[in-house]
Amino acid sequence: MESDTSPLLARRMRDIKPSFIREILAAAGGNTISFAGGLPHPESFPAHEIRESADRAIERDGRSILQYTVTEWYRPLREWIAHRYGLLTGVNMSADDIIITNGSQQAFDLIGKAFVDPGDTILLESPTYLGALQAFEFFEPRYEELDLGQDGPNTEHLRTSLERHRPKFFYAIPAFQNPSGGSYSAKCRTEVARALSDHSQTILVEDDPYGELRFDGTRHRAIAADYEHSILLGSFSKIAAPGLRLGWIYAPRALREPLVIAKQAADLHSGHLTQAILHRFVTEHDFDAHIDAIIARYRTHRDAMVAALRETLPEARFSVPEGGMFLWVQLPGCDTHALFKFATMCGVTFVPWAAFSPHGGCADCMRLNYSNCDPETIRRGVALLAEAYEQYQKSPR
Ligand SMILES: Cc1ncc(COP(=O)(O)O)c(C=O)c1O
Repeated sequence: MESDTSPLLARRMRDIKPSFIREILAAAGGNTISFAGGLPHPESFPAHEIRESADRAIERDGRSILQYTVTEWYRPLREWIAHRYGLLTGVNMSADDIIITNGSQQAFDLIGKAFVDPGDTILLESPTYLGALQAFEFFEPRYEELDLGQDGPNTEHLRTSLERHRPKFFYAIPAFQNPSGGSYSAKCRTEVARALSDHSQTILVEDDPYGELRFDGTRHRAIAADYEHSILLGSFSKIAAPGLRLGWIYAPRALREPLVIAKQAADLHSGHLTQAILHRFVTEHDFDAHIDAIIARYRTHRDAMVAALRETLPEARFSVPEGGMFLWVQLPGCDTHALFKFATMCGVTFVPWAAFSPHGGCADCMRLNYSNCDPETIRRGVALLAEAYEQYQKSPR
């Protein structure tokens, strides 16, 4: 029998829960159709191009890219990021403003280390990304939540929260949000930047891993372009491959320096070799064509899920997302936690709302991922979900 090691745990570890998604993925059987995870489709991974890029990176840069390097490095990749995302987001950035990270997930940890003391307030969208919640939890914050409407948060509520709670930062995912799939309108973005500028003690942490995956409509300027105390996060997980574990932070100098120190202490620097490989991939292959192919694929998946829901689960209410990987579905009056048990028995999984809020949330909503399954699997999965809903409705409550 294993001895109990829990008294050895640090106090901050005692209330930390394992990732809900890991738990449900572990619980699901082999044949289960998963709308639960947030995985890109494996056929979107540029495996062949990455292999070529790796060969070339090692051939041309030789042993130098196998050496230790400085924390913010790889310089050519940072230059490429500053150029591309400066244009796409409207943020005036140079290579010096960029830190390469091990995915955006590491950025959450570094931001927590650099800026959050126990008891500090973090302002969140409700619902919000559960991986960020998991990372922030280690710094023992208080959370305030801001409901998301059709066009983003209510900016009067934002102003009240900023005034009343003086949060350390506002964590926002304004494009194709995880989990809701929603996006802030251009007007809402301007108003959010204005509200933040009027209360400039709060940092904006703008997380944008899905911004490039727009199927319809036009791209908006980042809020970070119009508010000085902003940190902008980007990731290559959804537009290249998550296994590379590469993302980036844009931050102005005063906010960047503490983040660099936190990263030095955490891991010295992100993998030098993988950064060099990624740089070759994005500059020596047609990266825009690669992204266009992902968009075309995911648009078909989204359309398949929307059509299947309309046909087989007419009770479902949702807005059609203009991009990203998720659909946020409401089944009025349904307890999606209870529905989840029926769904796993029928062979399909999703994530119920409660996982996306530190305080629990509106029980009748759930997140469905459409990027990872092919359209035919999506249709079968939605039919199983409809079957689970029927069983749930017939069950005694
Ligand atoms: C909103 C959001 N932020 C950050 C991440 C983490 O991404 P990365 O793979 O870059 O760590 C995810 C991953 O799904 C996400 O949905």
